[in-house]
Amino acid sequence: MDFNLADIGEGIAEVEIMQWFVKPGDPIMQFDRVCEVQSDKATVEITSRYDGVIDKLCYDIGDMAAVGQPLITIKMEAGAGEPESADIKGAPPSTASSDTASTSSSPPKKKVKIDASKVLTSPAVRRIAKEESIDLTEVVGTGPKGRLLKEDVLNYVEARNNGTLPSSNAKEASINAPVQNTAGSSSPTQHEAVFEDRTIKIKGLQRIMVKTMEAANMIPTFGYCDEIEMNALVEVRRQLKETCVKQDINLSTMPFFLKAASLALLEYPQLNAHVTCEHCTEVTYKGSHNIGVAMDTPRGLLVPNIKNVQHKTIKELAMELNRLQKLGSEGKLGPADLSGGTFTLSNIGAIGGTYASPIIVMPEVVIGALGKFQTVPRYNDKMEVRPCTIMSVSWAADHRVVDGATMARFSNVWKTYIENPNTMLLDL
Ligand code: COA
Repeated sequence: MDFNLADIGEGIAEVEIMQWFVKPGDPIMQFDRVCEVQSDKATVEITSRYDGVIDKLCYDIGDMAAVGQPLITIKMEAGAGEPESADIKGAPPSTASSDTASTSSSPPKKKVKIDASKVLTSPAVRRIAKEESIDLTEVVGTGPKGRLLKEDVLNYVEARNNGTLPSSNAKEASINAPVQNTAGSSSPTQHEAVFEDRTIKIKGLQRIMVKTMEAANMIPTFGYCDEIEMNALVEVRRQLKETCVKQDINLSTMPFFLKAASLALLEYPQLNAHVTCEHCTEVTYKGSHNIGVAMDTPRGLLVPNIKNVQHKTIKELAMELNRLQKLGSEGKLGPADLSGGTFTLSNIGAIGGTYASPIIVMPEVVIGALGKFQTVPRYNDKMEVRPCTIMSVSWAADHRVVDGATMARFSNVWKTYIENPNTMLLDL
């Protein structure tokens, strides 16, 4: 019988297959892990609803699997199945988000022989291997814990194309290939192989980014930039950081930016809003300040949000940010953290740059991009030059519902809180 990919919510229509935990011929039991998939919201493990034997995997790794369509087919003993429940409509959820995966998914009952899908590597490398028809188990990984790196596969391809890959000893040849490359002279063939044009399909998170960014680009956006003096905040953070370290909390400047934004949103609630996407017929002023934080994760840009910033202390915001960063770095951010944002800050300055032109996270109406802190000379009241740490902010607002003056006034309040962090105490 067909085992369909169940609806994983949040309007997700398709997901990318990241890895299979089973292969044809494997016995499978209810709650055994079938595969790992990725949507723009989360990485999710799909578990079996049935006992039987895997007949067919309907997708290769890197393929996009459609919700409601067969994911695998399972051979079942006569009478053991419930064919009608293969239809996803109304079926019990067969997925476990990565947040809960460790508790909800028991280890596979049968030991599965290592296959290509178990090889430690990235989807991009799998894609290259697929395009080059390479069996990943034949290539030796030179990364940490034997991880297969892009270079490992490219070197393997080159060795194979040069005819220096003995079929009986593929792994050794793969190891030797880079040595030959670096030690040997730079023959044109080697360069051609390395610098070949490469066309790849835009899939997974990137494909979702194409769709959402194209839609967001239709919003008439107003830009507004300013510079913030950071001297006082840098000092306050320095004083408090040590106390937080003792409590195992990393206190960056972000929690202060978030709190200042929430306090300013209390004065300008029209910026903490959602609009109906396509025709902007309604605007909803959101009650909670669920402030999104653009996050650079190994899987790409994700925007988890901190819920109810208006009720949280700066320490609680730091703890929440630490939690989200940890989940982000492990690729485990789930729909609960990724949905429901009402306003966004993007600290691109943590990577670099002064000004930016951020794109609004629909259906929100404002996003702020923060630049890199820079110490520059500035005049004080007595016209004396002094060193000053400056951070730029670049706001983008949906001009259909936010006017420039409101954006500027909000920014002024936010800026005043950051330049005088002690004043936040009065409003906490
Ligand atoms: N300018 C200079 N340094 C900065 C900075 C800035 N704007 N923001 C952070 N830093 C510093 C921090 O002070 C910290 O250094 P320290 O501990 O030695 O003092 C260091 O960079 C690391 O900070 P981190 O914990 O990463 O920063 P954070 O809490 O301020 O930011 C994130 C967390 C998630 C926002 C950040 O890591 C991130 O991913 N930023 C990228 C956002 C992005 O990609 N936006 C683009 C959207 S298109």
